[in-house]
Amino acid sequence: MSNFFHYKDNELFCEDTSVKEIIQKENTPAYIYSKNSILKHFTEIKDAFAEAKPLICFSVKSNSNLTILKILSDAGAGFDVVSGGELYRALKIGVHPDKIVFAGVGKTTEEIKYALKNNIFMFNVESKAELENINTVAGDLSKKARVALRINPDIDARTHAKTTTGKKENKFGIDFETSEQIINNIDSYKNIDLRGIHVHLGSPIYDPEPYVLALKKVDEFLQKVRKLHKIEYLNIGGGYCISYTGESVKRPEDFARDILPITKKLGARLIMEPGRFIVGNAGILVSRVTYSKASIGGKKHVICDAAMNDLIRPSLYDAFHRIWPVCTSVPRPEIELPNQKPQTNGNLEIVDIVGPVCESSDVLAKGRWFPVVKAGDLIAVFSSGAYGFTMSSNYNSRPRACEILVDGGTVSTIRRRETYEDLIAIEKEYL
Ligand SMILES: Cc1ncc(COP(=O)(O)O)c(C=O)c1O
Repeated sequence: MSNFFHYKDNELFCEDTSVKEIIQKENTPAYIYSKNSILKHFTEIKDAFAEAKPLICFSVKSNSNLTILKILSDAGAGFDVVSGGELYRALKIGVHPDKIVFAGVGKTTEEIKYALKNNIFMFNVESKAELENINTVAGDLSKKARVALRINPDIDARTHAKTTTGKKENKFGIDFETSEQIINNIDSYKNIDLRGIHVHLGSPIYDPEPYVLALKKVDEFLQKVRKLHKIEYLNIGGGYCISYTGESVKRPEDFARDILPITKKLGARLIMEPGRFIVGNAGILVSRVTYSKASIGGKKHVICDAAMNDLIRPSLYDAFHRIWPVCTSVPRPEIELPNQKPQTNGNLEIVDIVGPVCESSDVLAKGRWFPVVKAGDLIAVFSSGAYGFTMSSNYNSRPRACEILVDGGTVSTIRRRETYEDLIAIEKEYL
């Protein structure tokens, strides 16, 4: 467990602040982030790759709260965006546009215009058709668009099928053959300034090997095409893993050790797009138990007030998040693994922890060994800082949770809880 979330006298703290006290004021469900954890992770990845002096473009999709983007921007980060909305957020916090890269398979003409008008650093281009469109739009605006070709290297990132992006059957990127044709023909794209190559394999990736395999293929490719065109930037994407179970996983320095010798050989300037590594373990989702229910077949359901609309990863990816009561005399185990009884002193029972949404897939944890809890108790869903709030929705007309930032003993609301009025605000005028 990151020591930014720790138990003291049977009670969970975020940095120096009692989670129970935050919730007394803010209520549940609530996302709580540790500012110093975010900064520590940013520094860790920056230091591990320091030798290459990379531009670290935080992946806005993992957590797009403005205050968090501002913290990272102040620490020197750039941003990886995948939509006009994410670009709007990045620009709003005042980051210099030459620190913004824009990926995504379906950038619309409007989004391309918006990005060009704001002079972003680079588009990560995902198809020939998109390159042609960017060329046309840039011409209309009398601009030259800086681009990197996103290569699909057909490498298995060995992660969940739904978050694998670098295999040939995935919709992302351009194959080597087409990329070579584009580069051969680059002079015909009058309004394109081809500056780099981009590769993003998927997320989370638990081993450097897929990066190494992909970069070796990129190396071979560059040997061929470099004679035709100088490639100045190499963007190696994101995907760096975090521990969801408490077990130790590879650290940025392990990735750097294997990746840097190859990128050094390639001689291009490095760009990285980490998201999950920076914010994943810097956030928790706190929820309150509404009911405990013994269901048919002897199964016990703990029904809480956070649901799949607040945190969809367990429903969508069967993702495993550790969960533990906020106040408990049962020590939180060091490690928890799916379907295994963890080592701890105290009474545990097997439960499904579920939300109130009308879907059987509305599950936060299935078959989990858990301390006995009762209605009113608070529980914390750990490792929820990435792809938590950003993937939340209003399904079942549930107002979205608030987001709270803790810095030592200081607590700030960085997004207020939505209200019922917010739910209808942009509909009611059409009644
Ligand atoms: C193009 C691109 N870059 C970076 C990321 C960030 O990945 P992660 O949060 O695992 O670092 C993603 C996420 O899917 C992505 O699609």
